[in-house]
Amino acid sequence: MSLVGALPFLKPRLSPSVSPGRQRRHTLPASEFRPLNTQDAISVFEIEKEAFISVSGDCPLHLDEVRHFLTLCPELSMGWFEEGRLVAFIIGSQWDQDRLTLDALTLHKPKGSTVHIHVLAVHRTFRQQGKGPILMWRYLQYLRCLPYVRRAVLMCEDFLVPFYQKSGFKVQGRCSITVASLTFTEMQYPVRGHALMRRNSEAIGFPQNVLLLEEQTQRLESVLLLEEQTQRLESVLLLEEPIQRSESALLLEEQTQRTEPEPADV
Ligand SMILES: CC(C)(COP(=O)(O)OP(=O)(O)OC[C@H]1O[C@@H](n2cnc3c(N)ncnc32)[C@H](O)[C@@H]1OP(=O)(O)O)[C@@H](O)C(=O)NCCC(=O)NCCS
Repeated sequence: MSLVGALPFLKPRLSPSVSPGRQRRHTLPASEFRPLNTQDAISVFEIEKEAFISVSGDCPLHLDEVRHFLTLCPELSMGWFEEGRLVAFIIGSQWDQDRLTLDALTLHKPKGSTVHIHVLAVHRTFRQQGKGPILMWRYLQYLRCLPYVRRAVLMCEDFLVPFYQKSGFKVQGRCSITVASLTFTEMQYPVRGHALMRRNSEAIGFPQNVLLLEEQTQRLESVLLLEEQTQRLESVLLLEEPIQRSESALLLEEQTQRTEPEPADV
């Protein structure tokens, strides 16, 4: 990791030896949402340090855990970058039980249909601008594109319950996990109407839709097979035609010869 990468909130300075006329212009997107990767781990942890460690001495994910989840399931993370700098992020992993247990803090269960949101945090200088709720909204919309996801869950301190309720989360009850003297409320959000299935799902229902699709595919395949067989038959007939013709010509010749009157003796 370069020094610039390790200090994500400092603007990279241009080398004075490069003349302005020869400087390459890199245009970083003003605003970009993308999944995080392990190279973003330090920037993530910088935000976490300020947001949590400086306040309570601990944070939801330590650096090795951030790397762990960004290696195992980067697709369940989302970063908001402004001009290339991370300003807010969410890190999630899959979970396979109804309620969160201690294991959920460190494990990713690839067969689970629940996304456990470990952490949402906004960089200090970008808070109180509505970025947290916007990122959460985009993340929840994105989850609708993942057909295996049925719901999202999180645990939060009680004072944040109204914040997550505004994003559509509902209280599930007290969380069994405690960290030192901290207790948490468990909340969940049902991920409904997956984007890829939305078109007919309301009227037909997804399983029927899949069956219909399969049925249609099978029908199409059998039509194609029939066409292929017909074509093959036609080409065989076309090939056989000259043979048949010559055979019949021979037969005709033979018959003609037989029926032709014998030349009269002179
Ligand atoms: C909590 C956090 C994600 C909110 O993001 P944000 O972009 O700063 O959100 P905003 O301040 O723009 O607030 C958006 C809305 O949430 C509400 N809100 C924000 N922080 C809140 C809090 N601590 N408690 C209750 N409501 C809160 C605001 O009142 C606002 O409501 P409104 O739209 O009705 O006015 C952000 O402050 C943060 O990163 N904090 C540190 C890390 C943290 O605590 N993360 C959550 C636990 S994992």
